Amino acid sequence: MKKFGIVPLLALVASTSGLALTSTTAAQADELSVVCSAEQDWCDLMKSAFEAENSDTDVLMVRKSTGETLAQVRAEAGNPKIDVWWGGTGDPHLIAAEEGLTQVSGVDTSDLLGWAQNMHKISDGKTVGIYAGALGIAYNADILAKKNIAPPQCWADLEDARFAGEIQVANPNSSGTAYTELATFVQLFGEDEAMTKLAAVGKNVNSYTKSGSAPSKAAARGETGVSIGFMHDMVNLASQGFPLKIVAPCEGTGYEVGAVSIIKGAKNLDAARKWVEFALNADWQSRGPEVGSFQVPSNSNAKVAPESPDLASIKLIDYDFATYGSSDTRKRLLSRWDKEVGDPNAQ
Ligand code: F6P
Repeated sequence: MKKFGIVPLLALVASTSGLALTSTTAAQADELSVVCSAEQDWCDLMKSAFEAENSDTDVLMVRKSTGETLAQVRAEAGNPKIDVWWGGTGDPHLIAAEEGLTQVSGVDTSDLLGWAQNMHKISDGKTVGIYAGALGIAYNADILAKKNIAPPQCWADLEDARFAGEIQVANPNSSGTAYTELATFVQLFGEDEAMTKLAAVGKNVNSYTKSGSAPSKAAARGETGVSIGFMHDMVNLASQGFPLKIVAPCEGTGYEVGAVSIIKGAKNLDAARKWVEFALNADWQSRGPEVGSFQVPSNSNAKVAPESPDLASIKLIDYDFATYGSSDTRKRLLSRWDKEVGDPNAQ
């Protein structure tokens, strides 16, 4: 819906004084409110590219982690301030769909890869996959060499006392990346064993961050020896010359399907639908690498950057999105994580 703003007082003055209305009658741009849970540079590129293609729309965008965005969408249910939620791991998008907080976009998914269509199917059309990426471990080779610490190869290595104070990872309450890690441990080891292992790793954690990519940035800068996160974020940092080595854990690992959803009650539905189509477009999906985003795109016609981790060569678990993207499962796992693992610095 386009809004045409004519200042009534000026219109009145003009009509009574015989003055011609000029710029005051210009069409006012629509505003599309987007929360972006991908990296800031990609958020910025998408905003400017969308505005260039849709000159009647101004995009108001903020970057928030996936769990934080789910919390906002829940808090604003019935009177949403957000129209579109673009990016971030798929589980919280599926949960928002299950809780009736997002709506069917009606988008054509025929060009999308199976894992992206799967999100669309599980959510009855309320979310759809835009990219995929595997979870992994990164270490700063200089730091570990200097401290004479043997690099990790498996998740189990991270429980070892040689990594005391060396590991950084995000908090699964705020970060979709860290929730993917939690769900991955549960799928690899069973729920009880996963909590025991995460608590053991937790003894070596120096800080739980809000955003999922922050730990690898800290490892790249040498502020921590080891990070857990998505491999595509690690690839970006390694390609900038940081001494970061990337490990696909020996036990196998989980992966994300990043998603886009339209919020129920979105004020600007037409523009929101355009955004979803735009986000699935092969040309736009191919541009992530320009700004250091190396996820695998969901459109089968999009270009995959040579730097993007090759998912086929990584030992991936058969991640159960329907189960781990359900409200009850996330609530139970987060409550166990808070009690049995816990972030000592959380208020
Ligand atoms: O940095 C990009 C990214 O890794 C995405 O692939 C992912 O969907 C998102 O971050 C998750 O961010 P967070 O863990 O902060 O919710």
